[in-house]
Amino acid sequence: MTERKVTAPDLLTMKERGEKITVLTAYDYPTARLVERAGIDVALVGDSLGNVVLGYENTLPVTMEEMLHHVKAVARGVERALVVADMPYLSYQISVEQALENAGRFLKEGGAESVKLEGGLEMAETVRRIVEVGIPVMGHVGYTPQSVHAFGRRVVRGKDEYSARRAMDGAKALQEAGAFAIVLEAMPAALAKEVTASLVVPTIGIGAGPHCDGQVLVIHDILGLGEGAPPKFVKQYARLGETAVEAIRQYAGEVKSGAYPDEEHSY
Ligand code: KIV
Repeated sequence: MTERKVTAPDLLTMKERGEKITVLTAYDYPTARLVERAGIDVALVGDSLGNVVLGYENTLPVTMEEMLHHVKAVARGVERALVVADMPYLSYQISVEQALENAGRFLKEGGAESVKLEGGLEMAETVRRIVEVGIPVMGHVGYTPQSVHAFGRRVVRGKDEYSARRAMDGAKALQEAGAFAIVLEAMPAALAKEVTASLVVPTIGIGAGPHCDGQVLVIHDILGLGEGAPPKFVKQYARLGETAVEAIRQYAGEVKSGAYPDEEHSY
C-alpha cells in the first residue's frame, strides 16, 4: 500500500501488479476519516447516499446539490484516498453538455478527483467527452441502481446471454472511451472473471465474486449500521448499529434515573 495520494492512473498500475484495489463508500466527514484512517484506496461518494443516509427509497431522488454537499465533506476528510463522486440520476443522461457541466462541478466545487456514472454502451460517448476535458471517469455496468424501475425484481444481471453480452460490451466500450476503472455490480462471478480478463483497466466488483481487480461495498453495510438483513454479497465486519442503540439506551436510562451526570462528568 502506497502512502502517497492515490490517483486514477494508480489503479491501473495496481491491476498490472496484481494488487487488489479497496473501495468503500463515504458520505460525510466522519465516514471519510474512517475510510482514510483504515487505508482504503478509493472513497466513493455513492449516490447510495439517497437510501443509506437521506432516507429515500432508492437513489432516484438524489440531486446534484445534495451530492455536492456530501462530496465536499468527504474531500475535507480524505488525504490519501482517491475521491470519486457519483453522478446522480438525470445529471448526465440528458445531454453530453449537461454531463460535462455537472462532472466539472464535482471537481471545481466539490473537491472530487474523479466521477462515476452508470451505463455501458449508451454512455460511452458521454464518458469519452468527460475524459477529454481531463476528468477521470469510473464506469458502472451490470445492475445499475438508477434503472431500478426498468430492472424490477431481476437484480442479478448477466444470467442470460443478452444481459451478459451487454455487460461485456458495455465494459469494453467504457474502456475504449477512456474510463479508468469499471464497477461490475450484481453478476455471476464467472462473467465478472471474463470481463476482468478482457479489460486492461481494473474492474471493481460489488456482488460480482472474487475475480475482480478490486471490491466496493457500502460502509454502513460492512459496519452493520443498517436495519434488517443486508444483501447476500455483503459481509458484515461489525454490528455497530446494535452497539450504538445499546449505548444510547444506557445514556437515556441514566438520564432518567439521575445517574448521569455524576460528579466525574460535572464541573
Ligand atoms: O452508490 C453507490 O454506493 C454505488 C456502489 C457501487 C456501491 O454506486
